[in-house]
Amino acid sequence: MSRRTFIDWLLTGGLVAWAMAFVAPVLSYVWPAQSRGPSTQTVSAGKASDFKDWESKMVAVSGHPVLVFRSPQGFRAFSAICTHLGCIVAWNEARHDIECPCHAGVFDANGKVVSGPPPRPLAEYAVVVVNGEVMVKTA
Ligand code: FES
Repeated sequence: MSRRTFIDWLLTGGLVAWAMAFVAPVLSYVWPAQSRGPSTQTVSAGKASDFKDWESKMVAVSGHPVLVFRSPQGFRAFSAICTHLGCIVAWNEARHDIECPCHAGVFDANGKVVSGPPPRPLAEYAVVVVNGEVMVKTA
């Protein structure tokens, strides 16, 4: 390969990379992930017998952290992404609420905002127990 050919390849590759740097963000804006169709995923959170009342676990559903806990009424699952600025919330087993460490947002066991700056409740996920296995899925 001659020096000229090598430089041509280098410039062409650089131009393609430069053009993609502009095109990729435009494409993702025009065609956001939500418009690519529904994606449902079912994930096991473990055996139901491994959960005591008010005990929780964090699982990933479609790449999103989801908080699963057992209440006396059954299993519940909520997005663990705070609706304020997106911090990861945590279950408080003693108080039976969901707390955000960033700005002291608090959600109740139904995912509703109790106090703090979160503007909306946490998104809920469907939970079913199949053959003793706790299954969480996108709604
Ligand atoms: Fe959760 Fe601000 S990010 S309260």
